[in-house]
Amino acid sequence: MRFSPPGHFKSSEAFAAHLASLDLDFGCDQALTMGGALAQPIQVHGKTLDNRFCAHPMEGWDGTGDGAPSELTLRRWHRFGKSGAALIWGGEAFAVREDGKANPRQLCLHTGSEGDLASLLGALRDGRREHGLTQDGVLVGLQLTHSGRFSRPHGPFAPRIGQRHAILEGRYPLPENTEPLTDGELDGIGECYVAAARVAQRAGFDFVDVKACHGYLLHEMLACRSRPGSYGGELLLDRMRFFERIVRAIQAACPTLAIGVRLSAADLGAFHKDPTTGRGARTELEGFDAARHAFNWINDANAQQLDLLEATQFFARCADLGIALGNVTLGSPYWNPHLQRPAAYPPSDGYQPPDDPLRFVATHLRATRQLAHAVPQIQFVGTGYTYLQEWLPHTAQWAVARGDAAFIGLGRMLLSYPELPHDLLAGRPLQAKLLCRTFSDCTTAPRNGMVSGCFPLDPYYKAMPEAERLKAIKQGLAR
Ligand SMILES: Cc1cc2nc3c(=O)[nH]c(=O)nc-3n(C[C@H](O)[C@H](O)[C@H](O)COP(=O)(O)O)c2cc1C
Ligand code: SF4
Repeated sequence: MRFSPPGHFKSSEAFAAHLASLDLDFGCDQALTMGGALAQPIQVHGKTLDNRFCAHPMEGWDGTGDGAPSELTLRRWHRFGKSGAALIWGGEAFAVREDGKANPRQLCLHTGSEGDLASLLGALRDGRREHGLTQDGVLVGLQLTHSGRFSRPHGPFAPRIGQRHAILEGRYPLPENTEPLTDGELDGIGECYVAAARVAQRAGFDFVDVKACHGYLLHEMLACRSRPGSYGGELLLDRMRFFERIVRAIQAACPTLAIGVRLSAADLGAFHKDPTTGRGARTELEGFDAARHAFNWINDANAQQLDLLEATQFFARCADLGIALGNVTLGSPYWNPHLQRPAAYPPSDGYQPPDDPLRFVATHLRATRQLAHAVPQIQFVGTGYTYLQEWLPHTAQWAVARGDAAFIGLGRMLLSYPELPHDLLAGRPLQAKLLCRTFSDCTTAPRNGMVSGCFPLDPYYKAMPEAERLKAIKQGLAR
């Protein structure tokens, strides 16, 4: 598959023409306006945020074994602070319970968590202070998670599942005798969400994200059509009951703490590496029953079709619950990573993009656009911008000016170039050598048991012994 990455285009006009030639349904502004859409203040939960950038949650597989941050974790949060982004979405996934950690080094609720979380906030605030930014114009959340089917607290998978799932279990077999969590066990996990929210509030966080994305427990619960009992059923409201219970319990325990939700708004199809071409190929959905297994409706004939019916209903219900912040993501790192993180280069366990990554960026932008216009009570953060490289700011300005997103979420770009929003808002030119080129080393490293970071472009990670190991892994793959 040949495609031209955005950095290939020398002007915004040429990039816009390229988007049009691909028949994509998004555009980009020709010029950036100082003090324009991206610098517009916005009211969220009684605070006036001073710009439209959001730091997406990104964990570094670099906590201590008992769930506390390390120097590397603190460095990342410090850099998030230096970004100047007015919304910090969670920083990274924080497991509410040991058995829900996605890896042994994920941050996790433990007896020392209040101090840990306060130190992360301190690092973030220091970063802002260094750039002369006040602490008023920023809203900071903590992303609460239980990894459910993809839990690996000690290394190997130790799944806690909401329901049986033929396709996923073909790919990620369950240990013998794994049974779906009972309603009582889920209630116990729900209590841990509330305990974590209390700690986050005491540490000084403004909001918590009750994470429902990327295949983890609360996302899986939204798909539990065939689950008996209180937390499953045909109706979305039945499948939302566990999520809703957690939200209400946090609201009761922490009335002044705001709540956000990050949702994989559509599952879309599963992919695998075609052994002949190395490219991503659609996995046959044999045995898959969308009416039983999917959160959003997947049309079997074309599993790439975006259908946001349930995502719209989900967010409308969230608005009724008093949730005013949504973060839209798509798919999962476990079945369609090319969609979840559009990239030119796959991670070591991935595949070459099955199509021009700009098409997957377009799907992200479309999802947020449709939800933002369908549920205006919620302020939405969009995903999928990093791949746009030089033209990220022009596209971001285009989207915010049209009301297609309230905030532009940045993931990998903030690992390689954390100060991009700060530079942009100050009217400085972008530092091209720091732009993330989606090499995927920040994913390849943890897939091979290392900490995550931008090994190609961040000098701090470049100097680590892990950088050499990564090169060797990539050379081995290329042979
Ligand atoms: C190293 C790494 C860690 C991530 N960790 C999380 C996480 O903890 N929680 C989450 O919701 N998403 C996580 N993501 C996904 C990002 O938040 C984001 O959705 C994704 O990278 C796509 O945005 P981008 O194109 O701007 O990078 C992670 C991504 C990367 C690259
Ligand atoms: S390793 Fe760096 S350049 Fe590569 S995808 Fe991650 S942030 Fe981008």
